[in-house]
Amino acid sequence: MAKAVKGNDSVKEIKTIGVLSSGGDAPGMNAAIRAVVRTAIANGLKVKGIRRGYTGLLEEDIIDMDATSVADTIQRGGTILYTARCPEFMTKEGQDKGAYMCRKHGIDGIVVIGGDGSFQGARKLAERGINTIGVPGTIDLDIACTEYTIGFDTAVNTAMEAIDKVRDTSTSHERCSIIEVMGRNAGYIALWCGIANGAEHVLITERYDHDEQRIINSIIERRKVGKKHHIIVNAEGIGDSEGMAKRIQAATGIETRATIIGHIQRGGSPTCKDRVYASVMGSMAADLLSQGMSNRVVAYRHGEFTHFDIEEALNMHKDIDEYMFSMQKKLSR
Ligand code: ADP
Ligand code: F6P
Repeated sequence: MAKAVKGNDSVKEIKTIGVLSSGGDAPGMNAAIRAVVRTAIANGLKVKGIRRGYTGLLEEDIIDMDATSVADTIQRGGTILYTARCPEFMTKEGQDKGAYMCRKHGIDGIVVIGGDGSFQGARKLAERGINTIGVPGTIDLDIACTEYTIGFDTAVNTAMEAIDKVRDTSTSHERCSIIEVMGRNAGYIALWCGIANGAEHVLITERYDHDEQRIINSIIERRKVGKKHHIIVNAEGIGDSEGMAKRIQAATGIETRATIIGHIQRGGSPTCKDRVYASVMGSMAADLLSQGMSNRVVAYRHGEFTHFDIEEALNMHKDIDEYMFSMQKKLSR
């Protein structure tokens, strides 16, 4: 049992915590859930698993969890608690109902594993007196307060391996290949793959100038000097990779194919890094709740695990590393 600081001076006892995953799933979420459950139990707390994110909270899809509930899960992709996007939780009524459901089920604090949207929801619960801790889980790496998010390492390695394979066949057929990786609003997977796969071009929403003619000219020039393939990595947010392939083929006369890697990037067994970092973050979240903390987000920053106020975390900004972005262009000769 732990003491929780509520407001400025009143203290409530934390006996039971909940854990949920929300938004897009990410490999390593299970390692985080396992760490929350086992650390909380080691700290003398009870744990409830809330299935299907905030939807499950509103619909009371809530299960008791013990140490064996998370056995044999650290190596598994996806999330054993399932996940969802819950429009109802964006409303005041939904948030009031969420806090009510926590009280009804004796849940004093919740660990929310997800992205910025999920943290907004966590903040709303904290405002209603439910202690909350966010754990960054998204393959997109687009949470400003942290240099690591659960799932990015696995997803970017999955994408890198897929692009290597496309590159083999692309070279054999002397084709141009456009490979679309995930990231509607974030180009981190695309940029890292662009570097790791030696792509000729990386198109990300944060930097794309929509100058397709420049790409076409570059393909023609490189063919003249004997290049056998041409790899373009598109972030999902660029869109219309199929259309781009048709336009490039028409303009260059070089056979061009688009490959959309898609959801395989979100699945699969997590890498060692995702298992270890997710375990540390999940454990830290349970410890913070045990210590009575609320409205915090766990993060990895400047080489160490730490935590920030959710408000502060949500107000931080992050952008693509300019040096990485410009360096990639120099390497793609
Ligand atoms: P992520 O957590 O990966 O950023 P979403 O943006 O889809 O994913 O958010 C996940 C869920 O978090 C949403 O479906 C919703 O239930 C909740 N959420 C998002 N934004 C808010 C908000 N402003 N207020 C309350 N809840 C929110
Ligand atoms: O946020 C993770 C992510 O995979 C993004 O990269 C992608 O744009 C989005 O989720 C796709 O979501 P959905 O599950 O709706 O296909």
